[in-house]
Amino acid sequence: MFHEKFREGIISAKQFDKDDIEYILSKSREMIKKKNTDLLNGKILATLFFEPSTRTRLSFESAMYRLGGNVIGFHSGDVSSIKKGESIADTIRTVENYSDCIVIRHSLEGAARMASKFAKVPIINAGSGSGEHPTQALLDLLTITQELGSLDGLNIGLMGDLKYGRTVHSLSVLLSNFNVNAYFISPVELQMRNRDKDFLRQRQMNYKEITNFRKILNTLDVLYMTRIQKERFVDLEEYEKIKNFYIFRKEDLEDTKENFRLLHPLPRVNEISPDVDSSNKSVYFKQTFYGIPMRKAILAEMMHD
Ligand code: NCD
Repeated sequence: MFHEKFREGIISAKQFDKDDIEYILSKSREMIKKKNTDLLNGKILATLFFEPSTRTRLSFESAMYRLGGNVIGFHSGDVSSIKKGESIADTIRTVENYSDCIVIRHSLEGAARMASKFAKVPIINAGSGSGEHPTQALLDLLTITQELGSLDGLNIGLMGDLKYGRTVHSLSVLLSNFNVNAYFISPVELQMRNRDKDFLRQRQMNYKEITNFRKILNTLDVLYMTRIQKERFVDLEEYEKIKNFYIFRKEDLEDTKENFRLLHPLPRVNEISPDVDSSNKSVYFKQTFYGIPMRKAILAEMMHD
């Protein structure tokens, strides 16, 4: 079962098959109904964030409190002994003695995986460099299914920084378990990396790569926008040239299906103009709401006895 399979934690979206996804979605839906419980009474979650975060850290912490548990942690590498030169491995071997589960965000792609090799408690990857962000992708699927019902048959566009964006890497992997038509929409410089596409091709995912989203906007059920990941650019001049490549404007909504939904993991910079927010097709703040039941479901699976 899920609890057994994910005993070492959630490191990658690749761990999930369709049944695992359906299971955690249904557990999350149950969590929407029960706001507060005492399921994790006496348990301690550690949140180790070496990179900035608003939603991911606060929603994990809020979810843990809503399950009756407690939280310890830090939200900057600068305030932990990493600053003094301590390794991630030693940090994990310490914090596992203080907690029942560890959530980690780090700029290195392999950080969460490495942490899971050292830890006796489950590790949850809350963002590993440009690599993955599996729990965000799960809450994205919860949002889509709550809004539109089944995933099968949907036309879904993932747009923006597909090279460095970790949320789209995890989301495309989860979507490859379903019968969706995917469009990877990006400037040529920020296309999905070959290793990611190779994996999706092996899974026989049906996807097309395009640059101009306006050409297919009227066929989409979902458009998932992302921020250009400034912090991953080696050359900031390159970022400056490309940062406003896509801007979704209010007029664009006129060209969309009645049941169209616009998602974004947030933070947004310029890529969605603020006057789009009031449309009921814009569900990026609903996504932040769904982060809580999804993370409650995940934490409950990781820690219940
Ligand atoms: C994302 C992240 O950190 O990868 N944010 C999030 O967790 N909701 C997206 C981003 O930073 O662009």
